[in-house]
Amino acid sequence: MSSVVSSQRVLSGMRPTGRLHLGHYHGVLKNWVKLQHEYECFFFVADWHALTTEYEHPQKIEASVWDMVIDWLAAGINPGSATLFIQSRVPEHAELHLLLSMMTPLGWLERVPTYKDQQEKLREKDLSTYGFLGYPLLQSADILAYRAGQVPVGADQVAHIEITREVARRFNHLYGREPGFEEAVDAAIRKMGKKQAKVYLDSRRKYQEQGDESALERAQALVQDQQNITLGDKERMLGDLEGGGKIILPEPQALLTPASKMPGLDGQKMSKSYGNFISLREEPDAIDEKIRRMPTDPARVRRTDPGDPQKCPVWQLHEVYSDDTIRSWVDHGCRTAGIGCLDCKKPVIDAVQAELEPIRKRAEDHSRNPDLVRTIVAEGCEEAREAARDTLEEVREAMGLSYR
Ligand code: TRP
Ligand code: SF4
Repeated sequence: MSSVVSSQRVLSGMRPTGRLHLGHYHGVLKNWVKLQHEYECFFFVADWHALTTEYEHPQKIEASVWDMVIDWLAAGINPGSATLFIQSRVPEHAELHLLLSMMTPLGWLERVPTYKDQQEKLREKDLSTYGFLGYPLLQSADILAYRAGQVPVGADQVAHIEITREVARRFNHLYGREPGFEEAVDAAIRKMGKKQAKVYLDSRRKYQEQGDESALERAQALVQDQQNITLGDKERMLGDLEGGGKIILPEPQALLTPASKMPGLDGQKMSKSYGNFISLREEPDAIDEKIRRMPTDPARVRRTDPGDPQKCPVWQLHEVYSDDTIRSWVDHGCRTAGIGCLDCKKPVIDAVQAELEPIRKRAEDHSRNPDLVRTIVAEGCEEAREAARDTLEEVREAMGLSYR
């Protein structure tokens, strides 16, 4: 499929960290589940990205891959709606990464804020490696291999989408102007007929001379609507409109995932490393136990001491799970010592139990059926590979590498 028609494509990846928890569910997975019904979605396990920091113990990655895929499926990612795959099974990512590395200035990678930040944060690991410096470029290759238009990510990843856009721009600039580009564009414009050609040329001028974005959008829509113009020529025209060459690798947009409101059991962000999480496969007794043991407003030493929900991590869970009626019952009951903390936790426990019961069941089914999971992923890898192969063929061709 070509970039002209792939702008509705969504792609996102997750490093294999093993079993997922409610933080992942509310932060990322629920969003993926929604997107899979609205766009053509590709979701993948970024195992090579894990290797950039885990290269000393790569054996740990395997189990994490399958645990994570099972949790995706359990959370409602549907292999009928989205393509699920593993990065390392699509070697086109590695080829594109290598080709892009030829034209990516070192300074661009050194200046990505996560580079130094992560090195500082993961001091116990030696991350002064070629692979780790290339982390954002590998991510660019992941995205550009599918010519994805939208990339759902958290705020911490926006710099990686930004460098992807720069790399795509540089690639198109270097390799998009094949000989005969202008002639091909002129011929395609004539094919549209006098009236539409005039609209195209007027809009192009308005955009290029006055920066009129709506003129650009009008011309882009006009190009997309043409029936008798080849995809290749459409791409040339889209490139021509923006004053560049043919767009071989379109620039993706970050689709910012709203920060998860899911707090951990101690009120901090839910995270595996803080040990304050409820896993998606948590057993009912453990869910009960974990929420019952949650700290509350320290002012409520005795049952008769009034408290302040704003100082209590349980309140944050009510913000995720409870309706207005329950919330005002909590607020009033807490401030007047009318309810005890265990009473207050009860509706949260019930809500988490109800949310996780079907997820846990699906995860159990999938763990009992590893062959099915392997098949789902194998099929996803095949589909992904086909899409990535199309891009790589165009990339090699544009770079003059399709000789045999
Ligand atoms: N770096 C991303 C993260 O840590 C994971 C990732 C790898 C990714 N390749 C990607 C996300 C491509 C979106 C698109 O979360
Ligand atoms: Fe927290 Fe609820 Fe106890 Fe108030 S009553 S301190 S909100 S658990």
